Amino acid sequence: MPAASLRLLLSEQQIQARIRELGAQIDADYPNGNLHLVCILKGACFFLADLARAMKREAFIDFMGISSYGKGKTTSGAVKLTKDLDISVEGADVLLVEDIVDSGVTLTYLVNVLQQRKPRSVKIAALLDKPDRRLRPVKVAYVGFQIADEFVVGYGLDFAEKYRNLRDVCILEET
Ligand code: IMP
Ligand code: MG
Repeated sequence: MPAASLRLLLSEQQIQARIRELGAQIDADYPNGNLHLVCILKGACFFLADLARAMKREAFIDFMGISSYGKGKTTSGAVKLTKDLDISVEGADVLLVEDIVDSGVTLTYLVNVLQQRKPRSVKIAALLDKPDRRLRPVKVAYVGFQIADEFVVGYGLDFAEKYRNLRDVCILEET
């Protein structure tokens, strides 16, 4: 791989301030009932952790694993479940917590899988949204930031499993 450099896109402070707003909005939108926050592994792990603590209401936390991009930057188109939920979502409000919506293929698949479990509702919270890249229409109820069509890493997002533990979101540029 050619040498790569990182260019700051969203600072830790910007990310945390936006997550506090999203947490308050979710509190207001779900005044009662069981709310299940479903983290899509691995990219959404930090977003889930911060979003869950930005909310004041009770919430269940669960995880779903899916086959990822592998080492490339474009989606393979095929999605496979590698880890399923531990807690039943029947009759519950489900909020899928995702790092980034790109083509929309992953979330279209996951929403279909979850709808079969008879939840009361299924919505999506995504830290980042790249609307220009959409192949499948997906409704994202809570978006942290809309970004341009650039490959980003950090705050959970990876390139070939690297950079996930950066506190900021950065654009990965080949040099
Ligand atoms: P989609 O199915 O194309 O919407 O893919 C969404 C998934 O692709 C995300 O959960 C990420 O794992 C990955 N992805 C998409 N864009 C980026 C990016 O800019 N950086 C890192 N991962 C990305
Ligand atoms: Mg991901």
